[in-house]
Amino acid sequence: MRQANVLLDRNFTIGRVDPRLFGAFVEHLGRGVYGGLYEPDHPTADEKGFRRDVLDLVRELGVTIVKYPGGNFSHTYNWEDGVGPIGERPRRLNYAWQSTEPNSFGTNEFIDWCRLAGVEPMLVLNLATRGPQDAADLVEYCNLPGGTTLSELRRTHGWDKPHGVKFWCLGNEMDGPWHTGPDTAEEYGRVAARAAKIMRWVDSSIELAASGSSGRDLPTLGSWDETVLKHAFDHVDHIAIHTYLNNWKDDAPAFLASPDFVDAFIEEVVAIADAAAAKRRSEKRIMLSFNEWNVWYRTRRPYHTRLQPGWPVAPPILEEVYSVEDALVAGGILISLVNHADRVRSACLAQLVNAIAPIMTETGGPAWRQTIFYPFAQMSRLARGEVLRAKVECETYSAAYYSPYNAIDAFYPVPHAAYLKLAAIANEGGGLTLFALNRDVEQELTVLVNARGFGPLGVAEATVLTDSNLKAANSKAAPDRVKPAKLAGVAVGNETARIELPPASWSVVHLTAAS
Ligand code: AHR
Repeated sequence: MRQANVLLDRNFTIGRVDPRLFGAFVEHLGRGVYGGLYEPDHPTADEKGFRRDVLDLVRELGVTIVKYPGGNFSHTYNWEDGVGPIGERPRRLNYAWQSTEPNSFGTNEFIDWCRLAGVEPMLVLNLATRGPQDAADLVEYCNLPGGTTLSELRRTHGWDKPHGVKFWCLGNEMDGPWHTGPDTAEEYGRVAARAAKIMRWVDSSIELAASGSSGRDLPTLGSWDETVLKHAFDHVDHIAIHTYLNNWKDDAPAFLASPDFVDAFIEEVVAIADAAAAKRRSEKRIMLSFNEWNVWYRTRRPYHTRLQPGWPVAPPILEEVYSVEDALVAGGILISLVNHADRVRSACLAQLVNAIAPIMTETGGPAWRQTIFYPFAQMSRLARGEVLRAKVECETYSAAYYSPYNAIDAFYPVPHAAYLKLAAIANEGGGLTLFALNRDVEQELTVLVNARGFGPLGVAEATVLTDSNLKAANSKAAPDRVKPAKLAGVAVGNETARIELPPASWSVVHLTAAS
């Protein structure tokens, strides 16, 4: 049996967790919107056509902010198509996902849905086939109370009060060769700066995210972000980055090591953003918006397998079925994000319903939780407060993580993956919560915690997600096949805890504390 020592001190903190770290993403992709959020004929649909069973699960998941309407979809989206009387809206080709977009659900419906779900909207602008003026027009339509053509248009559409959208993304994955749009960082950086200026003239209270590197394995990582910030540094608050991890090689240790890529990626982009600040002698710090992350591979490649001929409406594409090991990796990514709470201020699990999602539905039928639902829901509920700078002493292993997406057959070394990956939170209102991933697929791990400044500890809640079959998954027929169970091996004392973690497991230990 392995052992890890964890030293925590109530005064040694990284930063406060921004609730926006627990965001998700809804794209006009497959059954994400139609058959996901919106299905007027569904037995649980409300008067607006929103599935109540999905809304209940979204609230249970603890989502705080939702990115919309894409993704790749946003590169050719005309926001005007999605507003006004539903019967008069155009049917368009959704080029990104080779389907037909009926436009029955658009910006105003999304805002209504957000209010019901209790989440903040994060809107993505089309800076590929459209430009700064169109972006400013959408801000005017959404955020001005009235008195101008576009704000009055919103009112005539039935939304009298302004939407007050705060968080705006200046395009999406603009570095990606897989879409249309400005194709150099110079070109995009200038467009983003121009759009940002006009948008802030319309509403000075908004927050803006520039589109950064959409993968650590893209050859333009570094130069892209640097060049974009050369143009946009003074105009934006955040830079957006993305990561999807895979287990193509069916190598569980390497897959479990792969969330360390997220730590490295964050630290690299922070360094680039801070270098941009240094060049200007600026005190300003650009924050990271990690606004797409997940495990995604089975339905990712080859590209044509996710496209269906005949431009169907809401085809079932990218409906990845998540296993136990995927949930462990999702938990590992969440640990990486939380441990960088000083610089990562928002993040979005991609996506929310049906397409690479924690929530699955059957059109006309039930909704259920995928395995990745659980670490997210637990983190969103219990990772509130100050992140502690944990000192973890533990054996490490080396792995070669495989990523075929942007370079053929590329292996990336992860030379020092600690068997224990951990985040520790001093909770608001007292208490201490530990999120622990045991990456040893064969052995148990004993974790000895010394929590200075917390006084006598008590166990409020301790759960574990694991399975003798790491490929086990939930389905319509067996929606509860995989879910967290009670973790038995937790013993506490004065400022100490001893926790026994099963092999290949994700555990959450919520402790009561004197301070
Ligand atoms: O989330 C699926 C796709 O992944 C998004 O449309 C795009 O932003 C990313 O490449």
